[in-house]
Amino acid sequence: MDIQYLGHSSFIVTLGGKKILFDPFISENPLNKTTKVEDIKCDIILVSHGHFDHVADVEQVAKQNECTVISNYEVVNWFGKKDIKGHPLNHGGMVTMDGISIKYVNAVHTSSMPDGSYGGYPGGFVVWTADECLYFAGDTALTLDMKLIPMTCPKVTVSILPIGDNFTMGYEDAAIAAQFVECDKIVGCHFDTFGYIEIDHSAAKQAFEAKGKTLHILGIEESIEL
Ligand code: NI
Ligand code: MN
Repeated sequence: MDIQYLGHSSFIVTLGGKKILFDPFISENPLNKTTKVEDIKCDIILVSHGHFDHVADVEQVAKQNECTVISNYEVVNWFGKKDIKGHPLNHGGMVTMDGISIKYVNAVHTSSMPDGSYGGYPGGFVVWTADECLYFAGDTALTLDMKLIPMTCPKVTVSILPIGDNFTMGYEDAAIAAQFVECDKIVGCHFDTFGYIEIDHSAAKQAFEAKGKTLHILGIEESIEL
């Protein structure tokens, strides 16, 4: 699958011929100097939870692409009031669209919408086709629930894991998360955007290497085929 990083926890993953946009936070990302929201093309938007650094550009991107937002019931309802099409999931639930299966899985974090309203419970996604499977953890601590993923989903090919610490797990816990999901190829997210989450990239890579895993840290707009 092709994975393009748009900064923070925003990615466009091309899987099963569809462009899946995760957690768009582009216009307000202090590290983004190049990506313009109006240029983003996608077929579907997946939103892990309601925090501003995951939803800031959902409305504009959804409207310009006329695409569906998939998230938990509360996040989908909140965007529904802005005339955005949505498909609600809740934890443990799955939907299959155009040959792509999308399952909403547990995350340990908090959630509220940018206006302070209730955002439901945060989650992550496992997304797969017949050939490939991606785990996008969202904002989360390390949790034993991650061990359920290889028991309930196809073999995970690539995982996108938060590595920035402070608001989520740090890279050392994320390396254990990679063991829990039984995945060797990791792409890092949720690091460096704010002072609280600045990390040492080489130390992060070493933490994964020590467990026989590979951590990829991408620059904004950089793509990788994994
Ligand atoms: Ni968050
Ligand atoms: Mn966040």
